[in-house]
Amino acid sequence: MKFFVDTAEIDQIKELHALGMVDGVTTNPSLIAKSGRDILEVTKEICDLVDGPVSAEVVALDAETMLAEGRKLAKIADNIAVKVPLTWAGLQTCKALSDDGIMVNVTLCFSANQALLAAKAGATFISPFIGRLDDINLDGLQLIEDIRTIYDNYGFETNILAASIRSANHMSDCAKIGADVATAPPAVIKAMANHILTDKGLAGFMADVKKANIKIL
Ligand code: E4P
Repeated sequence: MKFFVDTAEIDQIKELHALGMVDGVTTNPSLIAKSGRDILEVTKEICDLVDGPVSAEVVALDAETMLAEGRKLAKIADNIAVKVPLTWAGLQTCKALSDDGIMVNVTLCFSANQALLAAKAGATFISPFIGRLDDINLDGLQLIEDIRTIYDNYGFETNILAASIRSANHMSDCAKIGADVATAPPAVIKAMANHILTDKGLAGFMADVKKANIKIL
């Protein structure tokens, strides 16, 4: 499973990138607003840093303006994936951009039917938001499973990009189901390293290092 990092914070991307943890980046208008940066500037900076797909989201609601925005975003770099919402206008934009050979990430997906439409419209990525489904007591992981089944049944090439990840467990659950990609905030990716038994085991080893005065350097 590929890891995308869900942030527009350059320092956080750099830290994870240095460890080989960043196969791509996703942003959205809320993350851009949080960064306080100009969308075109910060997106260009991310594209220069990361080789993989960098999702940048349109902000218009009608297809014509979305398409113009998408074409402008795509000019930033070759690795831009234009992010469009899963609305009818978004699907129209997806089809037009993917026909032009531009990567498209269809976002705000909350049902298997929406994912089916996005694949038909030529989406490179479909972004089911699992955390936001869990937040309202629906089953986000079940949606990933349903989309995996549907795409595999018909050989759709659209990549399942599990989004709205809230926990380290979400990451391993998505990997078990066979999501192609998961995009997560930096803190969640770092939390994947944590285990209470690792901490306990290390404390025991360190106590013995002290007792026996073990030195390597
Ligand atoms: C994905 O591309 C979205 O930017 C993101 O995962 C949304 O996550 P949230 O539900 O935590 O805002």
